Amino acid sequence: MILKGKEILLGVTGGIAAYKSVLLLRKLTKAGANVNVIMTENAKQFVGPLTFQTLSGNPVTSDLFTLFKSKEIGHVALADRADLLVIAPATANIIGKIANGIGDDFLSTMVMATRVPVLFAPSMNVNMFHSPIVQENIKKLKQHGYYFIDPEEGELACKVEGKGKLADVDDILEEICILLSQKDFKGKRILITAGPTIEDIDPVRYISNNSSGKMGYALAKTAIRRGADVLLISGPTSLKPPYKSKFIKVRSAQEMYEAVMDNFKYFDIIIKSAAVADYKPAKKGEQKIKKTDNDIYLKLTKNKDILKELGKKKENRLIVGFAAETQDILENAKQKLIEKNIDLMVVNDVSKKDIAFKSDYNQCTLIFRNGNILELPKAKKEEVADDILDAIKSII
Ligand code: CTP
Repeated sequence: MILKGKEILLGVTGGIAAYKSVLLLRKLTKAGANVNVIMTENAKQFVGPLTFQTLSGNPVTSDLFTLFKSKEIGHVALADRADLLVIAPATANIIGKIANGIGDDFLSTMVMATRVPVLFAPSMNVNMFHSPIVQENIKKLKQHGYYFIDPEEGELACKVEGKGKLADVDDILEEICILLSQKDFKGKRILITAGPTIEDIDPVRYISNNSSGKMGYALAKTAIRRGADVLLISGPTSLKPPYKSKFIKVRSAQEMYEAVMDNFKYFDIIIKSAAVADYKPAKKGEQKIKKTDNDIYLKLTKNKDILKELGKKKENRLIVGFAAETQDILENAKQKLIEKNIDLMVVNDVSKKDIAFKSDYNQCTLIFRNGNILELPKAKKEEVADDILDAIKSII
């Protein structure tokens, strides 16, 4: 959503990671951005301009002496129109040139001509990256308000292990979203729980539920974009921890309870989107339970209700719960809001196949403590997350 209709300039410089900027371009355009690519002459040694031109639908620019629409001065015109400029990969050379005021090609002059946020994603040999000159240049650029996303550690193209690999393309995309988002949750600390919990029966079997964690992860991602400091406590999922979130992985409801209780006091807002198992096997088998000729019965004991415990210790924190219902949906959810002493309940009809559990979409009803009810439209979980955060903002 945030990238829809945005004008992004993608600067590509001459490093082997230039092939990854093709993927970045693809992701930016898929998210609805209009991208203009600027390549240095060296970048063209690694990837052909036609690839970027085809995927962006815009001409690729390199030549400093280009006039746009016959009279606009190329580097100034593009710089004026943009919302953000990202340079990925950024070589030691482009970093050095910008840090020292050298504008000798289209990209370097445009960086100087623009007033929009500029994000550098460096990629180079580990020794180059750690060289005092490159580090000094980076420090200087940061002091002047330029943004950086650090390279990753790993095996580099030169077969050396170390820090220098271009940051993950999804992380670069996320950093762009963060830079373009309104920071209306700046200074807020939000604890979010997500995913299912797993209650072990024996070393190979367990009880769990259908939660994918997608809603909680979308909330974490969106809250981070909007400036919040986020701790995500998650049951087992297949999802990558959101970029820039603090993250604690748990397995059982008891582990989630302990992690939440250890941390909640440091947070202003708590969002409990996890699908916590209400019961666990009374006794976990140390060995695999063997089959016999008879039926067996599994005795279950109750897990602690984490949300209810939080409600008791609430003080002036804002607490949001999720209610998964299949019948008497609003009545049951209202009851839970009162019993658990929380401020906002996000209600899901989990009997619908096209939303909630495992789906990328959700449709929720919000019940406020004062009895107000707000129906949210069916939308992608990231958009629903934004709507939930808007509702939270209206009551903090
Ligand atoms: N919850 C919790 N700890 C539990 C069970 C639920 O913190 N042991 C939280 C969930 O994270 C959610 C809210 O309580 O925010 C409601 O969960 P839900 O499963 O809808 O309701 P339950 O209270 O478990 O009641 P029931 O299963 O009978 O509907």
